[in-house]
Amino acid sequence: MLYVVVSALLLGGSSAYAPGVSAGRAAVSMRSSALSMAERTPLMAGNWKMNLLLPEAIALAKDVAAAAAKSPKVDVAVCVPYPYLVPVAEALKGSKVGLGAQDAFWETAGAYTAAVSTGMLKSVGSKYVLAGHSERRAVFGDSDADINKKVLKIIAEGLTCILCVGELKEERESGETFNVCDKQLTAGLKGVSAEMMTQIVIAYEPVWAIGTGLTATPEIAQETHAYIRSWFVENYSQKVADAVIIQYGGSVNAGNVDKLMACPDIDGALVGGASLKIDAFGPIIAFKPL
Ligand code: 13P
Repeated sequence: MLYVVVSALLLGGSSAYAPGVSAGRAAVSMRSSALSMAERTPLMAGNWKMNLLLPEAIALAKDVAAAAAKSPKVDVAVCVPYPYLVPVAEALKGSKVGLGAQDAFWETAGAYTAAVSTGMLKSVGSKYVLAGHSERRAVFGDSDADINKKVLKIIAEGLTCILCVGELKEERESGETFNVCDKQLTAGLKGVSAEMMTQIVIAYEPVWAIGTGLTATPEIAQETHAYIRSWFVENYSQKVADAVIIQYGGSVNAGNVDKLMACPDIDGALVGGASLKIDAFGPIIAFKPL
């Protein structure tokens, strides 16, 4: 009950789009992880989606490398279209920016036209692979079971999987946010052990905030991030929960990143539109929590 009151106060004080979250079954397990957050290195990742042409991609990668060099305490990654993995790897050489792909198939090799394997991604220098992005779920029909197979394969390849979860606008408005996260985490991480969790990053991306300009308020984002961290306490351990990086994604930009990053359970951002220009992504890498 206390949780509901606090939540209502937070929502009442916000000015951005702020649909309510009713306290689901998971709300009772809300815990703070503030004690250990200082030990987590923030991860700022750009998801270029299906954008840019090759010369732009190479130029942007070089700019990201230069910007990342000025922020020693932040991990940085770019998740680029498949054709750009090799040239972007070259452009990032010697930098600390991690190369990432936006998806992978779960089979090792064979007659799977147009599919890309984790082995291929690793062989060209990828470190990160997204799984379960809402656009893959909505446009390409990736089910939770598909996503789980991808997650397990990405881990088995020795890569880091950024597992994306998040609710639709209707689900938020009907108070289903935590249940949706619970379902997507439970299914997506089936068979993932505590040891394997060192290769998992979670990206909480409320679908209604992606590409819409409707960023979740820091309070709303923090509320769900705290829930997700509490989910790891319940389903893994306090140690795993304290260590897991939970990024926020959804209309992150230079103007809102500092406030978002001031939240104790927000450990970075997965950035779409604002990762396509260094003028926008540079300040995100150089965030200063308010
Ligand atoms: P936007 O930053 O464009 O809202 O996209 C977020 C996203 O989907 C990152 O994966």
